[in-house]
Amino acid sequence: MKLTILGGGGFRVPLVYGALLGDRGEGRVTDVVLHDLDAGRLSAVARVLAEQAADALDAPTVTATTDLDEALRGADFIFSAIRVGGLEGRAADERVALDQGVLGQETVGAGGIAYGLRTVPVAVDIARRAARLAPDAWLINFTNPAGLVTEAMSRHLGDRVIGICDSPVGLGRRIARVLGAEPREAWIDYVGLNHLGWVRGLHVAGRDELPRLLADPDLLGSFEEGKLFGTDWLRSLGAIPNEYLHYYYFNRETVRAYSRAEKTRGAFLRDQQARFYEEMSRPGSAALTAWDRTRAEREATYMSENRETAGAGERDADDLSGGYEKVALALMRAIARDERTTLILNVRNQGTLSVLDADAVIEVPCLVDANGAHPVAVAPLPDHATGLVCAVKAVEREVLAAAESGSRTTAVKAFALHPLVDSVNVARNLVDGYTAVHPGLAYLT
Ligand code: G6P
Ligand code: MN
Repeated sequence: MKLTILGGGGFRVPLVYGALLGDRGEGRVTDVVLHDLDAGRLSAVARVLAEQAADALDAPTVTATTDLDEALRGADFIFSAIRVGGLEGRAADERVALDQGVLGQETVGAGGIAYGLRTVPVAVDIARRAARLAPDAWLINFTNPAGLVTEAMSRHLGDRVIGICDSPVGLGRRIARVLGAEPREAWIDYVGLNHLGWVRGLHVAGRDELPRLLADPDLLGSFEEGKLFGTDWLRSLGAIPNEYLHYYYFNRETVRAYSRAEKTRGAFLRDQQARFYEEMSRPGSAALTAWDRTRAEREATYMSENRETAGAGERDADDLSGGYEKVALALMRAIARDERTTLILNVRNQGTLSVLDADAVIEVPCLVDANGAHPVAVAPLPDHATGLVCAVKAVEREVLAAAESGSRTTAVKAFALHPLVDSVNVARNLVDGYTAVHPGLAYLT
């Protein structure tokens, strides 16, 4: 089985390869093709993978190419993990937004819109080529903003594109852990958009255990989301929000913290990874050790400004292993071997949330089998959550429309309609600022 990874020179590729090495089952991936625009990054990552495979039996073969069509042809699965504009682009997304006093996070608010406007045209081109060159392949989208990018691709690939994110999985795992439940045996009642969802229940053997958590301040304050949002707010909501909702519920504080930070997240990662790739260009350096050190530092500092504003302290050791590669592997296995499983994924709504149309990509538990991912029926969201979901989906639709038409006016509308952009004038300034720094936005006229 052939797996193609787009963005194959990306820093998180060794996580995926590590997961593949652990898979000894029937029908596992035997060939990995890495595609990237940058040959230097490809050889850096290939060095890490070679060290990972050193002691493994039957490790999947790894080949690298800068030819997209060659990479896509004959693939069974395609992972899309690209970053249009690189981390330099992410840092610029943050800077331009912060200069306007609004959030520049890569997936939430103005930064997410800018990143989406840059990424959608590239993702659509990939989807079109994949439909032509690998019509039976499943495309698993990791590229942020994951919900929006998945929806853009679904217009060309239908339900053959599935978006993934590890944050709902991590959230479910943390809640199960504090409740003393086995995550595998818990049914997590979660729904929303990517980075904009809520856990409303956690059912073990048919019984909802979430009320027990909400009723116990000590338990509630003992894990990441409890520390981030505060126990009072979680009890008011009667639900546990995805960590990215911290940017909404505590917007003023997070914008202030990001403005004051010595380096924004994007700038920190840009510099950190520049050092890593530079180190990889020197022959003889220990690739896997350098990669793992860099990874650990990245994990430890994830959302550190948010945690600082909330006084949440360091991350739990159990939360440092991420896990998106596990979701990807579980999804691929379920499809390839028809092993029925339930995973929280980004798929087309198909009537799951009645307030959205059938083609809107949402994040929801899905039953997965050889026929793909099918959203499970869930209870409707409360009005406050429905309001946010509808507002942000409307913004996503304006981003898709702007990417298709190239209309600057539509791009302004996307920014202006976002709940975290507080003036139409700010939206205009954002479009001016972003088009001035991003060559990838030259199409907006
Ligand atoms: C979480 C999010 C991902 C994001 C990742 C890394 O897992 O769900 O969407 O890519 O964190 O964030 P970072 O700030 O380290 O790039
Ligand atoms: Mn994510």
